[in-house]
Parts: sequence; C-alpha cells; structure tokens
Amino acid sequence: MRRLNLLRKAYDSEVARENWHMLKDEWKKIGRNEPCPCGNGKKYKKCCLHKDTEDIPIDYKKWYKQKYDIRLKEPEDIEKIRFAGNLVIETLDAVEAALRPGLTTDEINTMVHRFAETHGVVPAPLNYRGFPKSVCTSVNEVICHGIPGPETLKDGDIINVDVTYIYQGFYADASKTYFVGTPSPEARRIVDVTAESLKAAMELLKPGSTIGDIGWAIQRYAESRNCSVVREFVGHGVGFDFHEPPQIPHFGKKGQGVTLVPGMVFTVEPMINLGKPDLFVADDGWTAITSDRQLSAQFEQTFLITEDGFESLTPYEL
Ligand code: MF3
Ligand code: CO
Ligand code: CO
Repeated sequence: MRRLNLLRKAYDSEVARENWHMLKDEWKKIGRNEPCPCGNGKKYKKCCLHKDTEDIPIDYKKWYKQKYDIRLKEPEDIEKIRFAGNLVIETLDAVEAALRPGLTTDEINTMVHRFAETHGVVPAPLNYRGFPKSVCTSVNEVICHGIPGPETLKDGDIINVDVTYIYQGFYADASKTYFVGTPSPEARRIVDVTAESLKAAMELLKPGSTIGDIGWAIQRYAESRNCSVVREFVGHGVGFDFHEPPQIPHFGKKGQGVTLVPGMVFTVEPMINLGKPDLFVADDGWTAITSDRQLSAQFEQTFLITEDGFESLTPYEL
C-alpha cells in the first residue's frame, strides 16, 4: 500500500503554505457519513472525526476515489500520458504547417490518422460513441465536435483542431484554434479572448485552488471582453480514460467545488463565443453550432496538478 501524501510534503515547503490554508475548506465539506480522508473506507464519524486535523494521515488517492470517483495519477501513469501528449502537440504543429485555403477537413483527418499509425498511438475519437473520424475539426461558428469532411477551408476561416491519442492505454487531449490565411478583426478577437481565458485559468492551477476557481477565472475574463462562455461542454478528468470525473466547467464561483490536489490530471478547454452562448447540435448528432452563427473558438490542454503548481502534459504557448 502506497500513500499518496504529496500535499503533506507540499505543506512543509515554503511555496505551498498558503495553499494549505485553502485546503482547510475541503475539511468543512466532509460530511460525518462520508469516506474518511485517511482512506480506510470507513465513515468519517466512525474513523478520524475526533482526531486533530493535523494528525489524520490523509490518503488523497483513496479519499478522492471514494468521495469524488477521481483517480489520481502516479508518476508511471503520468509518463505515459506525457508521451501521448507530446505526440498530440507534434500533430497539432504538423496540421498548422499544412493549413491553407483549399485544404479539406478530411485531409486533416487523414494526416492525423496516419501520424497516429506511424507513431504507435490510437486516435481516441475514432468510433468513440459512434464518432466517425480520428480528429474533431470545428470551423467558424462550429463550437466543437465538428466531423471532418469534403468541405474546403477558405481564407479568413478559423478552425479548431482537437486531437486525443491513446498510448499504452493512457490518454492525452489537446486542441488549438488556427487562422486560415488572413483573419478578420472579429476572428482575431475571439481567438485572442479564448487563449487569454485559458491563460487566466492556468494561473490558478495549483493545490488548494478549487474547480470553481478555474471556471470563475475563465468566465470573468471572457465576459469582461464581452464574449460568452459555452455551458454545455466542459473540461474533464483524463488519462486512464477519455472522459473521467471530475467535470471542469468553464464558468463558476470562486472557492466552489473540489479542491485541487497533486496527481489530478484534467483538461481545461474553454469554448468562447463572440455572441450569445446558446448552441444547437446538428442532425449528425455531433456538430455543435452557435445559435446566432457567430464565431466560436477553443483552446485545450491536459494539465497535471503538481506540489507547487501544474505541468501541462500537452504544452504549447498561448
Ligand atoms: N476531444 C474532445 C474533448 O476535448 C472530445 C471529442 S469526442 C469525439 O473532450 F467523439 F467527438 F471525438
Ligand atoms: Co477534452
Ligand atoms: Co479535446
């Protein structure tokens, strides 16, 4: 039995002292009948309730699994997710280099599929809940889950390319929105606001922050620039599976939700609209489109919470 007690260590370090105080709020959320943070599976009231908080041997790995169904990752898991993530980023870079007016989204799909084949990874979207292709390509007013096809890209389009690979059973998920040719001022604006909203969230990725803080930072930034946040799609735990708990909304209230602890791996993937947040899903059952047909952009990375902050397992500059 191995105790994942990284945060205890973090408490000892200068850098995370402040985070420890924020973690104390997690304690207020422990109900008497909930799993005890020591991880032995008993109810809190039958276990450590009357112990001094400082004396409870917290087992985050067991506690978070029992309480939230969140599976924390070990170093050997993280290595494989990072390996998949680096290939995701290589793929996004290759797609970027190939983008030009006249390219079809099917050609992007072929590139991604072949890249995966030659690098020993599986493209997770293919056949995922019936998704027919190896990558999502979402153009202009398409928010997410666009299906590659024969449509050609035109000068001035924006396109989100969302790549997820599986390496030896481990998943990494990332996306970027690109300009095709010369962008309009509107296209520049929505892509800039979306990238900046993800950056704002990244500042809060450390032990002691909460999931609500992430959404709060994104929403605050996007709305301050007069854009809107999509509610229907959220970030997610990732690594052992494509989509795991917890959900990571891109809107929310400071201090609400699960406290971040080292070993958590999840995506943050804000979808931000130039106009209203409303959407509909096309008849294909996948393509999500803004109701007002205005532009939508998205950036996504897979993040690991570390003792003193975070590491992107699909790193790129924003
Ligand atoms: N990659 C998407 C995400 O960020 C999910 C795509 S599901 C698919 O979660 F089936 F459309 F590929
Ligand atoms: Co995702
Ligand atoms: Co994705």
